Amino acid sequence: MSFVSTVRAPANIAFIKYWGKKPSSFNLATNDSLSMTLKHCCTQTQVSFTKDKDHNITLNQTQLTRNHPNGLKIFTFLDYMQQVLGTSLKFSVVSTNSFPTGSGIASSASGFAALSIATIATATRSQSWEELSEFGWTPERIAQYSRRGSGSSCRSLFGGLVQWSTGDREEEQTVKPLYDQNHWELADTIAIISSEEKKRSSSKAHLSALSSPLFKPRLFDIDRRMAIIKEAFDIRDLSLLGPILEQEALEMHAIIMSAQDAFSYLDQVSLDVICALRRWRHEGTCEAYFTIDAGPNIHIISAKDTVGSIISHFAEEFPNIQLIKDTVGPGPRFDQSQETEGSAWQQ
Ligand code: DP6
Repeated sequence: MSFVSTVRAPANIAFIKYWGKKPSSFNLATNDSLSMTLKHCCTQTQVSFTKDKDHNITLNQTQLTRNHPNGLKIFTFLDYMQQVLGTSLKFSVVSTNSFPTGSGIASSASGFAALSIATIATATRSQSWEELSEFGWTPERIAQYSRRGSGSSCRSLFGGLVQWSTGDREEEQTVKPLYDQNHWELADTIAIISSEEKKRSSSKAHLSALSSPLFKPRLFDIDRRMAIIKEAFDIRDLSLLGPILEQEALEMHAIIMSAQDAFSYLDQVSLDVICALRRWRHEGTCEAYFTIDAGPNIHIISAKDTVGSIISHFAEEFPNIQLIKDTVGPGPRFDQSQETEGSAWQQ
């Protein structure tokens, strides 16, 4: 009998961006970051041990190999988790995103969060957070491992508003939830500008960030922005939060556009949407603000009852743009774990 673990982990949208890494292979961020965990955009991952010679990975119905463009990072992470968990057995992984495949929404955060929890749950035969914590596996501790797979995934271990604090050493990189998902019900309406694969992976773009003349000045302002976002959450004030979101997103993209290896994730339609959103706001018909990850899609942050007005504005001015409606959500959960026959794992 073998143990199968099924975990559903959420994506997150960064309000203060993780942009730039310290020289190390452990994804040590150069600055503190903050994100809101999403409710509907998530990854469901099923893990068991296999007797096969190598890991067996199926991602959105596609079987991955070590030399597949999306494969190496996942294979390398599974090799690492084998060492951490002290097993010679390989993993069998079936993973699916709830959001449209290839929609350009970063799936590495939800993907690596789900993968790290599910591999540990499989090795410890745990079916709940309570059982995992009996083995000493708290979300805080799992976040340290998940971060090595993909930095932003460490924030997906928690719901609500989550802070990842940085430091020079691994043990100084800590993650903690600041407010749970019930504190302030913000919505994230995602305008899908392009559904193509990213032109450049964020892992690669992180590396060239340090060559931009705008990189260091941004670091000096992070603490001030953090403090404003926390105050905005304290008093639930969107007009205090919003301008910081836009400043952060535009600065990250300015860094990408001014680095030595300069390029742009944004296209003309991204800019058209940004300008329209600002116009609707100034006209007083839509109290909403944007943020953008490493891609062309625009995340529109608003109160829940503003979403209807965002949808009508898009129907009028951008009828061909697909919208994904999401809100703040909880952290990862176990879906169902079950015993199946025929796999190799014995404890
Ligand atoms: C723009 O976490 O994808 O989404 O650590 O190399 O996997 P790696 O990078 P990744 O970077 C995401 C950056 C971002 C901003 C953020 O989520 O903070």
